[in-house]
Amino acid sequence: MYPRPKTMLMMRFDYSGIPYQDVMTELMAFYDKDLHYADGRILGSMCTSPDSISREAHSLFMEANLGNPGLCAGTAEMERRVIEMLMDLLGMDTSLPGNENAGGQMMSGGTEANITALWIVRNLTGKKEVIFPESAHFSLFKAVDLLGMRPKLVPLTREYRADVQKIHELLGTNTAAIVGIAGTTELGQVDPIEEIGKLAGDHGISLHVDAAFGGFVLPFLDDFNEVFDFRAKGVDTMGVDPHKMGLATIPAGALLMRDSTVQQRIAVRSPYLTTEKNMSLSGTRNSASVAAAYAVMRGLGREGYRRVTERCMNNTRHLTRKLRKMGLEPVIEPKTNVLAVRMENPLDVVREMNRKGWVLSRATHPPSLRFVVMPHVSREQIDRMVEGLEEVI
Ligand SMILES: Cc1ncc(COP(=O)(O)O)c(C=O)c1O
Repeated sequence: MYPRPKTMLMMRFDYSGIPYQDVMTELMAFYDKDLHYADGRILGSMCTSPDSISREAHSLFMEANLGNPGLCAGTAEMERRVIEMLMDLLGMDTSLPGNENAGGQMMSGGTEANITALWIVRNLTGKKEVIFPESAHFSLFKAVDLLGMRPKLVPLTREYRADVQKIHELLGTNTAAIVGIAGTTELGQVDPIEEIGKLAGDHGISLHVDAAFGGFVLPFLDDFNEVFDFRAKGVDTMGVDPHKMGLATIPAGALLMRDSTVQQRIAVRSPYLTTEKNMSLSGTRNSASVAAAYAVMRGLGREGYRRVTERCMNNTRHLTRKLRKMGLEPVIEPKTNVLAVRMENPLDVVREMNRKGWVLSRATHPPSLRFVVMPHVSREQIDRMVEGLEEVI
């Protein structure tokens, strides 16, 4: 057991509202209304029950504020270490020319990473068009809307990957960036990042890879041999979320940059803080989940994540077999622990299953019933869920 720091003694002011116990009772009533991952009935979310070391780290660093890093030198150092670990995981070799200034920042998740990446590239280029696949997460639509940019949607191939030839055709004088997805939200599919990177590099266009989900899955798969990360030339920035398959607490996302000096393009003066410049979308910045990400990454190590991923993939394959027996065909053979089976009216099934206490979701492209087999989902729960699904269908 480590010694508890003095600062963890909680501040307690004079309460003039209802008694403490009553507040706690109210809280528990709300808590009980929530669904909890640990019950194993949520198969429609990319988040999960964080590892216990994440929870401990989170509570220890609850008051730190990376928005004012001069007050929390230790937390700021921890952020740099998390970024280094993530870059290492995602193929960044800082000894190679062009990678000397690699770096990044922690943020609230994939949405903020996508917004920040496009914010930087818009300010760098002054251009307005962003080419991204039809399979992109809706946060990219938020990003272009907020930034006054325009989406150029890339049709998908028969395997539901971004069509590189079509990207080529969409390139124009006003193209600011291309976005590729490593682990799509609906199907868990991976775009041909290496090929897209080559195209982007040849045309001097920035490539952002959204690996919010896949960043913590693909590196741990034994049978996935595609290059989807900084090993691919042309990849300038990547988003990855420790609060999804990274088992950290919410909100933990990261934006990684091959050349982190580009962040200067979004810098504003922040004279009343401990740093002269602020270069993030948030002002006051969540730091507790940065500590959680640090702790769980240090604790699990690569082998720990590999085992978690292997179990999720085995469960995904188990579910695929069961659904096939019911006549439900996967849209693609699952590459990650996301599985979608074709269905005309998936929403009806989602609603019926919800009545039975199961949380599933749907994909729209193509219409399908979608399952995310996260670490909190056991094989026994899958079997029980499939029994319910048989009744519903
Ligand atoms: C590929 C991808 N990008 C971005 C996001 C947005 O992440 P967040 O909800 O953490 O902002 C998601 C969320 O599921 C995602 O799957």
